[in-house]
Amino acid sequence: MSSSERFGYEWDTYSFMDENYEKQFKNWTFPLSENDFKNKVILDASCGMGRNSYWPLKWGAKELVAFDVDERSVKRAKETLKEFKNADVVYKSIYDIDWKDRFDTAFSIGVIHHLKDPKKALQNIVTALKTDGTLLVWVYSYEGNEWIPKYVDPVRKNITSKLPVSIVHFLSYFCSIPLWLFVKIFRGPSGYLKQMSTFDFWHIHSIVFDQLIPDVANYWSKSDVEKLFSGLNLKEIVIKMPPNGSGWIINAKKK
Ligand SMILES: C[S@@+](CC[C@H](N)C(=O)[O-])C[C@H]1O[C@@H](n2cnc3c(N)ncnc32)[C@H](O)[C@@H]1O
Repeated sequence: MSSSERFGYEWDTYSFMDENYEKQFKNWTFPLSENDFKNKVILDASCGMGRNSYWPLKWGAKELVAFDVDERSVKRAKETLKEFKNADVVYKSIYDIDWKDRFDTAFSIGVIHHLKDPKKALQNIVTALKTDGTLLVWVYSYEGNEWIPKYVDPVRKNITSKLPVSIVHFLSYFCSIPLWLFVKIFRGPSGYLKQMSTFDFWHIHSIVFDQLIPDVANYWSKSDVEKLFSGLNLKEIVIKMPPNGSGWIINAKKK
């Protein structure tokens, strides 16, 4: 089973909209605000069950196209976005998208660090943007997450990414229950854990599960991200940590 099919299991299981997703989306797309999406033509690159597409549409996007390479995810995203007539969800690989100069804003959240050819994917997204269009990408950061490549990666790479996904879902309880208790008792204590302390158990369980299933999960340093985004048809590239201090947000404009 490929990583995208494994993610498909995740989005099929966790297909409900959680009230925390709005705050989470704002955190991942900082410093963009609701107004930045209003009346815009938007692309959500690799949308999963559509939880991120939902907010720009709610805030008045003119049109939104979301795509994913997993059929179950596409089906769930269609259900999530069914109330919006100006939303289109399509089955496509990020390596095969062929839109040109079509979108005012393109975002991709939690995707690029899972890809075998992240540069090619980024090139395709940039091509899909109009000149001066906005690109917003969120990826895992090495900074602040050093313990994950050290302790979680060997388990993910050698064991859990190879096990049947339903078994990994069950094994995730052995991490999610202690983690849930920890963040509830200590109210965080800080950074992303603080934000996590506001999540319900299932949200935390899905985050643990999400960490254990993919074949590829890169935790990039700021200089890795600078290298990845160099040589693309972009200007005004800003690389920042989100307010919760986890991940890199790359915000740029197409030249
Ligand atoms: C961690 S999930 C993030 C989904 C969504 N952006 C979110 O934040 O909820 C990564 C997504 O990338 C998708 N994906 C992986 N490889 C892809 C590819 N080659 N083309 C399109 N989507 C892909 C997976 O199917 C999965 O839905």
